[in-house]
Amino acid sequence: MRILSVVGARPQFVKLAPIARAMEGRAEHIIVHTGQHYDELMSDVFFQDLDIPAPDYNLGVGSGKHGEQTGTMLAGLEGVFERAKPDVVLVYGDTNSTLAAALAAVKMHIPVAHLEAGLRSFNRRMPEEHNRVLTDHAADLLLSPTQVGMDHLANEGLAERALLVGDVMTDVLFRVREQLSAANEPLPSGLDAGGYYVCTIHRPDNTDDPARLKAIVDSLAALNKPVLLLAHPRLKALAESHGINLAAGSLVLSEPLAYPQLVNAVANSAGVVTDSGGLQKEAFLLRVPCTTIRPETEWVETVQLGWNVLVNDDLGRLAGAVERPAPGPTDAAPYGDGHAAVRTIDALLDTFASVQPIQ
Ligand code: UD1
Repeated sequence: MRILSVVGARPQFVKLAPIARAMEGRAEHIIVHTGQHYDELMSDVFFQDLDIPAPDYNLGVGSGKHGEQTGTMLAGLEGVFERAKPDVVLVYGDTNSTLAAALAAVKMHIPVAHLEAGLRSFNRRMPEEHNRVLTDHAADLLLSPTQVGMDHLANEGLAERALLVGDVMTDVLFRVREQLSAANEPLPSGLDAGGYYVCTIHRPDNTDDPARLKAIVDSLAALNKPVLLLAHPRLKALAESHGINLAAGSLVLSEPLAYPQLVNAVANSAGVVTDSGGLQKEAFLLRVPCTTIRPETEWVETVQLGWNVLVNDDLGRLAGAVERPAPGPTDAAPYGDGHAAVRTIDALLDTFASVQPIQ
């Protein structure tokens, strides 16, 4: 069977790693990179560090407005699907690359499987919310990481197409953590284990309004420990254009880290402050307290279990939240057992192996 994966943005490369590995010897795997992320630190390093095979196709679409970017991908993917003739297209997460690939495939009557299905923020200001809802309703097989995701799919009438497989980010995190403990990876220079926070901020709702961005940066700069700020290109560009200093006070400005170095930095930190979805979960899996600068989260389990606190408009609460002590230990595993990728491939083979290939 020929399975075609479409990825384009940083978190999708992380999810692709365990899938590509689990696919070896079981199905033919074609990898398409849309080119949504293109900087070396946003793309290439993930393929290198996580041993992901080089993409078979790269559309090189680059950055752009949502419609323009998604439309360019849609057009490019149609041509790729015509040439590659996949039996199923596998799409990941909730980016513009996800939606473009799902739409291109359904319009060509190619079955679509959605990995990380069923997540909802119920916040329609988020581009990811439209992307994931539309992708779930277009797809033929919905592979959900959590029971909460399964419940959302059932509420939307999609239960029959849904399957709980666990979270592939758990798979990759566990593997990298093992490799790190063997390699004794050093921390970013100047930081001591347990003596700093790790921070990422990249969502438009936090970066695009200069007053909000300044308020967030000021609150971070006043924290009681160094804050390793891993700056997404969007954050750097906007801070520069608004004259906001990303190295003020406690802030230690850094380029984004490659995945193993990120896991190492988080594992050794006193806490995480973020608006990223993946990092909230990674902090939980590494049992590091997280503070999320958003009004809501899709990863509700992290909040329910006490490892994640949401702070949005009331930034005066940020220091108290970030500097809080870690909660008591838990062995809860809402994100699976580290074998989600194998379950995903099993499900793809079970569901689509007998489907007639398109001509
Ligand atoms: C995208 C995803 C988001 C995901 C995030 C991970 C959408 C709608 N959003 O957001 O869900 O959490 O990726 O990072 O798909 N840029 C570069 N170099 C790059 C990539 C981006 O300089 O390699 C800059 C460009 O100025 C670009 C901006 O970052 O316009 C935003 O990139 P884009 O891919 O549109 O969205 P993200 O914010 O990265």
